[in-house]
Amino acid sequence: MDHGNEGFMIADETGADTFEILPEEDYYPYTYDELTDVALQEQKENAKPAYAGEVPDLDQYTTVFIGSPVWWGDWPMIMYTFFEENADALAGKTLIPFSTNEGSGLSGFDRSLASSCPDSTVGEGLAIRGSDAQNDQDNVRSTVNDWISELGL
Ligand SMILES: Cc1cc2nc3c(=O)[nH]c(=O)nc-3n(C[C@H](O)[C@H](O)[C@H](O)COP(=O)(O)O)c2cc1C
Repeated sequence: MDHGNEGFMIADETGADTFEILPEEDYYPYTYDELTDVALQEQKENAKPAYAGEVPDLDQYTTVFIGSPVWWGDWPMIMYTFFEENADALAGKTLIPFSTNEGSGLSGFDRSLASSCPDSTVGEGLAIRGSDAQNDQDNVRSTVNDWISELGL
């Protein structure tokens, strides 16, 4: 789930191609309370909701940034669908996790990504507050750019 502004800032800075992980069936409710219930249920059931579209040919990339909001202290379950289906194609590549969140930071995104894609290398991730991504874009852009420089890609 290439989340909103942070994902697009990374693409701007690196010139990367993007693929947005969106549900094949958009059944997610729009109020925050309802969404938290649905998300928790998916996590409890270890659901693997399908995402829409075809992932581009990953052979052409050596580094893949992967990010989403933190939901219940973890990746949204649809991200695990993506990891499972693409772990082989991501093998041998460097994966860089990023999150938006409201306090949980990276919330173990790096460790769970490494477990889901054991043949990939997981690089130093970045956590951004969702409210900052919305309302403090100049600062977030400079944080994103500093992080990308430090990654030395
Ligand atoms: C279902 C759900 C669960 C969430 N769980 C967490 C959490 O465990 N920790 C946290 O810091 N933020 C949590 N949040 C806040 C989101 O991370 C925050 O709303 C998001 O990063 C902002 O991006 P968005 O506009 O795409 O929702 C949760 C939000 C939702 C909707």
